[in-house]
Amino acid sequence: MKIVVIGGTGLIGTKLVNKLREHGHEAVPAAPNTGVNTLTGEGLAEVMKGASVVVDVSNSPSWEDAAVLNFFETSTRNLLKYEAAAGVGHHVALSVVGTDQLSESGYFRAKIAQEKLIKESAVPYTIVHATQFFEFLKGLADISIVDGKVHLPPVLFQPMAAEDVASAVGLIAVGPPVNGTVEIGGPQQFRLDELVRRRLASLKDSREVIADPKALYSGARLGERTLVPGENARLGETTFETWITKSAEKMPTATSSAA
Ligand SMILES: NC(=O)c1ccc[n+]([C@@H]2O[C@H](COP(=O)([O-])OP(=O)(O)OC[C@H]3O[C@@H](n4cnc5c(N)ncnc54)[C@H](OP(=O)(O)O)[C@@H]3O)[C@@H](O)[C@H]2O)c1
Repeated sequence: MKIVVIGGTGLIGTKLVNKLREHGHEAVPAAPNTGVNTLTGEGLAEVMKGASVVVDVSNSPSWEDAAVLNFFETSTRNLLKYEAAAGVGHHVALSVVGTDQLSESGYFRAKIAQEKLIKESAVPYTIVHATQFFEFLKGLADISIVDGKVHLPPVLFQPMAAEDVASAVGLIAVGPPVNGTVEIGGPQQFRLDELVRRRLASLKDSREVIADPKALYSGARLGERTLVPGENARLGETTFETWITKSAEKMPTATSSAA
C-alpha cells in the first residue's frame, strides 16, 4: 500500500516511515526538503498519485498565534483538496488529547481548526489524539518559563514515547478510517510538574520547576484531567524509566563527541 507521510522527516514522521517500510508498505516521506510543501501546494499532486493513505504528522515551524493558525488551515485545506482529486481513501492526522478544551491557546486553536476542516471534508479520516511525547518534556519547560523558573500546574499527565506514537499511528494508517477520533497515551500517570522536574534533573538542567496551580500550558488553563486520555485509549508500552534509560544511552559522551 502506498502511504504518504506528510512531515515524514520529523520526530514522529521518521519513525513512522521506517515502521511502515518494515511492514512492506511503500511509505513516502513528504516535507519541504523532499520537494513537498503543504503551504504552497508544491509537489502534492505528484506525491499523491496512487496513494491509498495520507498521514499528516507535520508541524508548524512557528508557534506564534497567527502563523500556526495559517499553517494548519492552509496545509490541511491543500492536503484534503489534493487527496480528493487523487482518490485517497484515508486521511490520518495526529493531534493532541484535550485539544477541544484548550482553545485559550493559539497553538490549540490552530489544531481545532485543522480538525474541523478534516471532519467537514469528504475524505474518510481518522484523527489520532496523542498525549505529550516524552521527547517534548524539555520543550515544555522551555515554553513555561516565568522569571527564569519553570511554572507548571500540578495536574495529571500521561505522556508517551515517540516510538509508541509512531507504532500506534502506523497501525491506524493501515486500518479502516473510523471517521472519528482515537486516543492514545502512555502507560503511567504522573503530575505534570513532577515529570518535567525529573526530566530536567536527568539532563543536569538546573532550572527550578514550580508547582503553580495558576500556570498556563501553551497559554491555556488546565483542569486536573485535561491532558489525560479517556478509558478507551490505546496505551503505549514504554515506561518513563525505560525511555529515560534508553535516551541516556543515546546521549553522546565527551569522548564520542570529540572523536
Ligand atoms: N509534541 C507533543 O508532545 C505532541 C503531542 C501530541 C501530538 N503532537 C502533534 O504531533 C505532530 C508532529 O509533531 P513532531 O514533533 O513529530 O513534529 P516535528 O518533529 O517538528 O516535524 C514536523 C515535520 O513537518 C514538516 N513540515 C514543516 N513545514 C512543512 C510544510 N510546509 N510542508 C510539509 N511539511 C512541513 C517538517 O519538515 P522539515 O523538517 O523539512 O521542516 C517536519 O518533517 C504535530 O502535529 C503535533 O501537533 C505533538
